[in-house]
Amino acid sequence: MNFPATRMRRLRRTPALRSLVRETHLHPGALVYPLFLCPGEGVRKEVASMPGVFNLSIDEALKEAESCAALGLGGLLLFGLPAQKDDLATGAYSENGIVQQGLHALKRNRSLDSLVLIADVCLCEYTSHGHCGIVARDSARGPEDTDLYEVQNDATLPLLSRTAVSLAQAGADIVAPSDMMDGRVKAIRAALDAASCHATPILSYASKFASAFYGPFREAAGSAPQFGDRRSYQMDGANLREAMREIDLDIAEGADMVLMKPALPYLDVIRAARERFDIPLGAYQVSGEYAMLQAAFQRGWLSPDRAMLESLISIRRSGADFIVTYFAKNAAQSLG
Ligand code: PBG
Repeated sequence: MNFPATRMRRLRRTPALRSLVRETHLHPGALVYPLFLCPGEGVRKEVASMPGVFNLSIDEALKEAESCAALGLGGLLLFGLPAQKDDLATGAYSENGIVQQGLHALKRNRSLDSLVLIADVCLCEYTSHGHCGIVARDSARGPEDTDLYEVQNDATLPLLSRTAVSLAQAGADIVAPSDMMDGRVKAIRAALDAASCHATPILSYASKFASAFYGPFREAAGSAPQFGDRRSYQMDGANLREAMREIDLDIAEGADMVLMKPALPYLDVIRAARERFDIPLGAYQVSGEYAMLQAAFQRGWLSPDRAMLESLISIRRSGADFIVTYFAKNAAQSLG
């Protein structure tokens, strides 16, 4: 069994040998590309902290989607930047909402049929205060002290349900709640079924941690909370067992798939979920993970292609079936 009879390097000698014994594979069909839809025409505004990622008006998003389809990507994850925000996140569930309009346009284009259209369901891009739910103030105290505001769980559920139904009716193939309110999967499933959207699956961001790595996204989506943070609803980064309970509950409530997020700092959580659950698992390589790598690429400190592919393969190896990543197009190009 030992050296010299055993030489591990024998199977590493040529690219063909390495390819034959490779355990984990990346393919474009398992990559999902996020798009940030904004009002207007001909808008293609780069996000400062995310080189290569843009806010796109719908006409531009259609072009982007065509290139994603041509590259063989699995799907798109849609976010919206509404023209206006308010306390009730009206833009999230309005029939003419930015993502609803985007979905109609994308669905009309038959050359995009190979892309699964996933609509993020959350209120933070649409609320004036940037929180993922309805905010109420402790009325016994002063109105100025923002520490006294609380994101209301049960009052938020009807709005999330309404948003999910509206996105499904506009053409979303999958709805993906990312708000972390308790009971939202059950509420959304009931609302979808009541609206005859029995066939629309729910991809729940079941395991979503309160993470510093969402920073660049909040610039891209204009969704930074105006006060406080998301720690009263997103999970504490120290807790793996709690993540398993979240997933258990979401599956019991009717989730068809779950999304793990962020990815790289939480690979152990992805692995634990993979071993425990047979449901399809996605992982979200979030904005901060992308920004961090891009910053190193720009300085010439890391080799772009190899570092990108290594980060993605590690996420697959940890057990994710598919990956939401801002590198989706680049990865598909270098795999092609
Ligand atoms: C909405 C949402 C966020 C992300 C995905 N959906 C932001 C947040 O929770 O603050 C982050 C994605 C990323 O960082 O790329 N709630």
